[in-house]
Amino acid sequence: NSYKLWGGRFSEKPNEALQELNNSLPQDARLYADDLDASKAYAEALMRAGHLNATECDKLVKSLEIIRYDWVERLVKFEPSDEDVHTVNERLLVALTGELGKRLHTGRSRNDQVVTDMKLWLRKAIRETLSRLRLLIESIVSQSESHLGVLMPGYTHLQRAQPVQFSHWLLSHAFALREDCQRLAELRERSNVLPLGSGAVAGNPLGIDRIWLAERLGFAAVTGNSMHAVGDRDFVVDFIYCCSMVSLHLSRLAEDLIIYSTKEFDFIKIADSFSSGSSLMPQKRNPDSLELIRGISGLITSNLTGIMMTIKGTPSTYNKDLQFDKQYCFQAFDKLSQSLDVAVGVIETMQVRRDQLEAALSSDMLATDWAYYLVRKGVPFREAHHHIGRVVTLAEQRGVDITEVPLGELQQICAAFGADIASVADYGYNVQQYDAIGGTSTASITEQLRLLKNLDKQL
Ligand code: ARG
Repeated sequence: NSYKLWGGRFSEKPNEALQELNNSLPQDARLYADDLDASKAYAEALMRAGHLNATECDKLVKSLEIIRYDWVERLVKFEPSDEDVHTVNERLLVALTGELGKRLHTGRSRNDQVVTDMKLWLRKAIRETLSRLRLLIESIVSQSESHLGVLMPGYTHLQRAQPVQFSHWLLSHAFALREDCQRLAELRERSNVLPLGSGAVAGNPLGIDRIWLAERLGFAAVTGNSMHAVGDRDFVVDFIYCCSMVSLHLSRLAEDLIIYSTKEFDFIKIADSFSSGSSLMPQKRNPDSLELIRGISGLITSNLTGIMMTIKGTPSTYNKDLQFDKQYCFQAFDKLSQSLDVAVGVIETMQVRRDQLEAALSSDMLATDWAYYLVRKGVPFREAHHHIGRVVTLAEQRGVDITEVPLGELQQICAAFGADIASVADYGYNVQQYDAIGGTSTASITEQLRLLKNLDKQL
């Protein structure tokens, strides 16, 4: 019971190896519902254009629903002649409706069909990715809220730089993820343009109302050039790029957490449920969850390169190379979803070791605040920077903290030093001075939390 979409002009059977290479069902079967949705709308458009009567249209629509039921119930059996999800759905439709089913493809090509299906799928994928991102941002926000006031060294070049609040560091990752959300929301708008009605290449000559179709399928507009529409996979590239960026952000977060969970740092403890042991060393507790997140970003980003390399050599319009878009796109989506789910779990369950975080602060990290102390006394910053540099060297030579250098000697370095320099020794007090928008003071962090909690309103 083989059903072929084409073959009238062929005298030989397709080569078996080619059939295997051509078969995209393992990848595109997951588009079945989008394919059926688009087909229902197309049947209605055919009726509106006078190519089907109401009874015929109704029969097609109902049959497409029966096919959906079969997919959901896993009753659909593939045939060796099936090439892709579109072939399967059409074969099933013809099995249910006979000659009538063969009318559905009037004026339609798999070229405009598959790109329409992909855009319908993309909408759901964006929605799901956004909701996973929101969950992760929420878990970061919640850990940050409950650890407000906990201090730690802020690092640049992975060298101790200035004291910051733990929440400020953790929220820095949420801000990257927030941009990912904005990027996805922007793509959702930009890609919401209907390609159906472009046919194979030249457009549609049968009076199909594309504007109506677009509204019916929830698209904001229709594509403006059929040749562009059937060969356009930019929205797939954009989506994989969005996924790559998220995965890159997760990878950097993972890297921070891996470093912070080492015994040398000991700032956080990854929960047992997100760690694993060693088959040889009984004492080991490895942050596999985070290493997998870091590693998978390489895989997701390789899909971005893959799709771009696939598209770059194709002449305009549809070419079969484009069939590989699905593997790249679905794998990026699936792997990112897993990665996000694990990241939420790690963040929610990690223990924050306040004592260790604050014990890592050292008085040399006050050097910048000491320079600002001199600035407030009227010393130009460049000079203040130089004076404090000398204090640091002196303290280093003596093997003491900068706070232990006697006032008299400080005053020899710079006359602006007064007894009140002693007050610039309190890390907690110092971080509160960073109160410009985006800084590490509690007021600024509170504003950061507010922005992140209002994310939904911005999307
Ligand atoms: N399975 C194909 C794809 O995903 C559908 C389009 C096939 N079009 C064609 N003219 N062979 O790209």
